[in-house]
Amino acid sequence: MPAGPTRVPIRHAALFGATGSLGPHLARELLRRGAKVRAVSRTREKLERDFVGLDVDLHPADLSQPAAAVRVAGGCDVVFHTVGLPLSAYEEHVRLARSTAEAMRVTGARGVAASSYWSFGPGGSTSLREDDPPVPGCRVCEIRRRTEDVLLGAGAAVAILPDFYGPMASLSLLNDALDTLRRGEAVRWPGDPDAPREFIFLPDAARHLCDLAERREAEGRRWNVPGGGARAPRSLLEDAAETLGSSARVTALHGWLVAVAGLVRRDAREFREILPLYDAPIGFDSSRLRELLGGLETTPYADGIRTTLDWLGERAAERD
Ligand SMILES: NC(=O)c1ccc[n+]([C@@H]2O[C@H](COP(=O)([O-])OP(=O)(O)OC[C@H]3O[C@@H](n4cnc5c(N)ncnc54)[C@H](OP(=O)(O)O)[C@@H]3O)[C@@H](O)[C@H]2O)c1
Repeated sequence: MPAGPTRVPIRHAALFGATGSLGPHLARELLRRGAKVRAVSRTREKLERDFVGLDVDLHPADLSQPAAAVRVAGGCDVVFHTVGLPLSAYEEHVRLARSTAEAMRVTGARGVAASSYWSFGPGGSTSLREDDPPVPGCRVCEIRRRTEDVLLGAGAAVAILPDFYGPMASLSLLNDALDTLRRGEAVRWPGDPDAPREFIFLPDAARHLCDLAERREAEGRRWNVPGGGARAPRSLLEDAAETLGSSARVTALHGWLVAVAGLVRRDAREFREILPLYDAPIGFDSSRLRELLGGLETTPYADGIRTTLDWLGERAAERD
């Protein structure tokens, strides 16, 4: 946890879009820090499923309605904006950000938003800096950037995150690949498995987001939040296979294959749009965040992957 005179403890946090990968990790981290937690998303069943056993208030609400966002943020001093949308509804991100901005304005709550390196566009660098200009030409990337701008304009701290992995990650290429390895099958990696990429272990992401929420200096700025460092997915999967006592078979799922699959499957059609982001290397320069927090602790891939494999194994056993 960050030290220093400007640290403002979180008293009561609203999690907007709580039923994704991040929400349950954020809730645990906030409870550990002594904050009260209100979880918000549209579907009550998902809220009840994701926060079972946690002392969290559950508030189903459609955050596309600014009035609903203002209502559910009432009494909270921090709003975490972690809503997620399918690629087919990506435009909605801007509208949801406006609702969060309105909730911050009316209630006076501070805001921290989870965003993605997609907002840089398909650049292909392993040392992206917050102020690097975005590369144009990618629809979802441009929407991400516009979403960030709305939240920055409202004074939120915007966390730029690498791809997620870890327990409860719902949309995660690395989790999916680890699960495939665990079943003893060959992995087809979308994009280039030899292009170094960064991945963040979800409990680390939750911790860093809470650290940002506790720092007034974080407000109204973008912050690169690092994962475990840029590594080729193939080499990560080879290490993971070793811990499983097997070997990894990894091949690239090339663009033309995704294109063919896209003729019949909507998810493949949508993924094709962002494939350039997965063909290029990606990594962060996080010196701005390191300076703010006075250092950063990140979980080494070996530990994070072992924990994830255990969780995937337990989940599979529960399903059988
Ligand atoms: N997956 C990754 O690797 C990755 C990496 C970097 C950044 N990110 C971004 O980080 C953010 C958090 O990701 P995540 O995986 O935790 O979340 P997520 O699963 O993408 O979405 C979280 C929740 O948002 C809720 N939501 C959507 N529209 C809503 C609305 N109108 N009102 C209220 N709730 C709504 C959905 O629940 P309901 O349908 O029940 O409402 C959904 O379960 C997302 O923006 C994501 O794109 C993801």
